[in-house]
Amino acid sequence: MDANDVAGDLEKILVTQEQLDQRLEELAAAIDSDYADRELLLVGVLKGAVMVMGDLSRKLHSKVTMDWMAVSSYGSGTKSSGVVRILKDLDTDIHGKHVLIVEDVVDSGLTLSWLLANLRSRGAASVEVAAMLRKPGAAKVEVDVRYVGFDIPNDFVVGYGLDFAEHYRNLPFVGTLARHAYE
Ligand code: IMP
Ligand code: MG
Repeated sequence: MDANDVAGDLEKILVTQEQLDQRLEELAAAIDSDYADRELLLVGVLKGAVMVMGDLSRKLHSKVTMDWMAVSSYGSGTKSSGVVRILKDLDTDIHGKHVLIVEDVVDSGLTLSWLLANLRSRGAASVEVAAMLRKPGAAKVEVDVRYVGFDIPNDFVVGYGLDFAEHYRNLPFVGTLARHAYE
């Protein structure tokens, strides 16, 4: 095996590429039907949501527009601080628009509840959330996630957009890291 191969850094695959693909198909069908008579603006949260945004949007039949935001919620380490900073704002005015926030994972829910309040305060007609993954911790903060891909255990996961120190985002599945990869 190549010394740079990531396979050796992984402990376990939690959600396979096939499972992601099939679930996204279901979510896209639900979104198409829910927004049949309303034009949707997809807002991807950089960088983690890049994969979900790319794959989900390609399964939609509806006419949509896409925009991106980058926010930072982690002060340091792997715990959410609740302090959210906008690193890159939307390019578009969302007043009167139907917005669907596309997220990689809802962990504490702090980032998302802040984002929901922020986008609603800009006068959007509606703001909903689609998240590929949700952890049990998300129940701590009242945040209504309309479309959820998979509920996963409270482990730190990588792949399909999710990183550890900016690595592993390119994996086509979601998995946990072997101890030697983060210690
Ligand atoms: P929250 O505010 O705790 O819900 O999570 C905020 C952000 O932390 C998520 O959008 C992810 O970018 C990141 N995050 C949360 N859990 C994980 C994980 O298990 N692996 C990688 N990033 C994570
Ligand atoms: Mg994120």
